[in-house]
Amino acid sequence: MSQRPPHFLPYQGSKRLLAPQILAALGDRRFRRIYEPFAGSGAVTLAAAHRSLADAFVLGDSLRSLADLWRQVLTDPAVLAQGYERLWHAQELDRDGHFLSIRAEFNQSANPAALLYLLARCAKNAPRFNQSGAFNQAEDRRRRGVHPARLTPQLMQVAALLQGRCEVRDGDFADQLRDAGPDDLAYLDPPYEGTSVGRDRRYHQGLNRERLVAELQHLIDRKVPFLLSYDGRTGDRRYGEPLPERLGLRRLELHAGRSSQATLAGRVEWTVESLYVSGGM
Ligand SMILES: C[S@@+](CC[C@H](N)C(=O)[O-])C[C@H]1O[C@@H](n2cnc3c(N)ncnc32)[C@H](O)[C@@H]1O
Repeated sequence: MSQRPPHFLPYQGSKRLLAPQILAALGDRRFRRIYEPFAGSGAVTLAAAHRSLADAFVLGDSLRSLADLWRQVLTDPAVLAQGYERLWHAQELDRDGHFLSIRAEFNQSANPAALLYLLARCAKNAPRFNQSGAFNQAEDRRRRGVHPARLTPQLMQVAALLQGRCEVRDGDFADQLRDAGPDDLAYLDPPYEGTSVGRDRRYHQGLNRERLVAELQHLIDRKVPFLLSYDGRTGDRRYGEPLPERLGLRRLELHAGRSSQATLAGRVEWTVESLYVSGGM
């Protein structure tokens, strides 16, 4: 087993670097299943599978095309890798129009390889959609996207790690968690409030805080252990309100690195993310 878990999907908000700190909150507990219903790039699932922290994994996202991309990783990784490679090399022939034509194709076909290419090439690796659900994020002209020679082995390793013990779901997180029980673990990484409302909506779907709190209470009532990444702070500035005390969660602070915005402004500031741990863990 290599030292680090494999990871193939460039995705804004990925927890790849924080995953070791997140999993450290579990001590040496193992679980029947680990659920990651706001999966994005599935960083915590991959890190947990790499350390065999559960017998099985359930990952999903309300972004249907992203869940389909995960399904293809598990069923047909070589086809997905070839599709990406073809799109990646074709960009050399048409540097100006290629991204937009693949974006238009994806909006017609929802082809997983096209989504993978768009995520690798778009600004901030952030999927953005307009009101009618069309991918409308712009390309990042400074990037060519990860080279297929690097992506393909990562993709194959991700598939090998999860195949036969991972189920992919799509839809709302609460539905994905319908069969979770006391022997399972849910890792939750919803869009923060600040990124869910207003003009700068990062994700295709936000999540209102009252609903999140109500669903956490359901998990507590069903005795489903969970970890939740939610608010945090940069320097003295908090983002997001702390969650209500009545939920009985323990809040840890994880070190997420130096703030790049502060660095640009000539200041040194550190970003800290909260990790909430459900009672009894
Ligand atoms: C902060 S990102 C997760 C990033 C992930 N932890 C990673 O390592 O890449 C939040 C994800 O939740 C998804 N999402 C938003 N609302 C959702 C909902 N109600 N149910 C399930 N997924 C949702 C978004 O599509 C997005 O992929």
